[in-house]
Amino acid sequence: MSILDQIKEELPWLGNNKIYDLTRGKPSPNQLLLSQKLIESISQPFEMDGVDLRNYGTPEGIKSARNLGSTILGTEEEKTLALDNSSLTLMHQILACSYFLGFNSSKLTPESKFICLVPGYDRHFKLLENFGIEMISVPFLENGPDIGKIEEYIAKDSSIHGIVCVPRHSNPTGHTFTDEQVDQLFKAVQPNKENFMIIWDNAYACHDLKETIEQSSASIIASSNGVEDNLFILGSTSKITLAGAGISFISSTTENLDQFISYRNSLTPAPNKMNQGLHAKIFSQLSVFDHMAELKKLILPKFELVESYLLNLKKMNLCEFTSPSGGYFFSFESSNNNAEEIINACGEVGLKLLPVGSCFPYLRDPNNSNIRLAPTFPNIEDLEKCMEIFSKVVIKLN
Ligand SMILES: Cc1ncc(COP(=O)(O)O)c(C=O)c1O
Repeated sequence: MSILDQIKEELPWLGNNKIYDLTRGKPSPNQLLLSQKLIESISQPFEMDGVDLRNYGTPEGIKSARNLGSTILGTEEEKTLALDNSSLTLMHQILACSYFLGFNSSKLTPESKFICLVPGYDRHFKLLENFGIEMISVPFLENGPDIGKIEEYIAKDSSIHGIVCVPRHSNPTGHTFTDEQVDQLFKAVQPNKENFMIIWDNAYACHDLKETIEQSSASIIASSNGVEDNLFILGSTSKITLAGAGISFISSTTENLDQFISYRNSLTPAPNKMNQGLHAKIFSQLSVFDHMAELKKLILPKFELVESYLLNLKKMNLCEFTSPSGGYFFSFESSNNNAEEIINACGEVGLKLLPVGSCFPYLRDPNNSNIRLAPTFPNIEDLEKCMEIFSKVVIKLN
């Protein structure tokens, strides 16, 4: 009997043609319901901070929403813009702005290269690839980015014009950078600082599930290393309120932000201030951190469940993984370098996983070992079934 037939026999509920899915880091319907209730509990404001939310204008975002962004990201309100849905779109726009207009200390060219920490976020890599930017992979070490490698690459290549990082609960590895690492990283990029962009995607800034180290302001560490002009901090409420219908934020130096607003003025006559007003009103009545504590109650049991399955596989020497202290993902490393086979076999019995290599530039996982698991979306019963399938496949294929 084939391995797949054995699994089907051992898991009779697989026959119901249901597709189980651990591909994307999406909030579950229960998480979204929490936000829906908050929205239903208030009336939509039409005016705030002396601004008519219904009209064009205020390209930097309304003050209350900028304040919300600065609270989430730990940045200064005056140096934080509140814009439309999706920080990923902001990343696209700052790359485009750098490419076409340039910032003070960043001008992308067709020869530009970026350092990408791996495993990392697939959409970052696809976006850089779409811009024709050559990506240089730097693998994470156990405790964080391999800063020695970054230093080495930058020292010998002046066409490395950027790096993309997720400094807290990194997608998918869960790494959270210490202040010391941030300081070393900012020192490492100094040789290319005349033309360099540090994209600091703080998508999981306040998404702790367990005790996580405190981080100082990246802007202050950047200033003390003279690279404040190179730093572009991004974030959003996508995984705080409604994914796809939140507010995004960007923080950088005043000059960079002015240049960015000037660039954006030809993209849109105004951000969606109605949504900004809605979010600002909700979080004037409820602390965003209290809301995150409610979301944690829904997410943490799912992380504990996945962890129990992975620990079991780890004890059998079938994988490595680090227990994430927050964020949205687990990063599974197959001990036998057969990620592709595992992904394909899971797919055949009804569990969808990202294609092999998804967390690497150009989809190239050099060890054929990494699989990202995104546990938030399924309900806990379905998640358990996902992990039953996954574990059985891993065990049988090894
Ligand atoms: C690291 C990271 N950045 C950005 C995003 C997307 O955020 P947004 O919805 O604000 O574009 C995600 C979503 O998974 C992410 O993991």
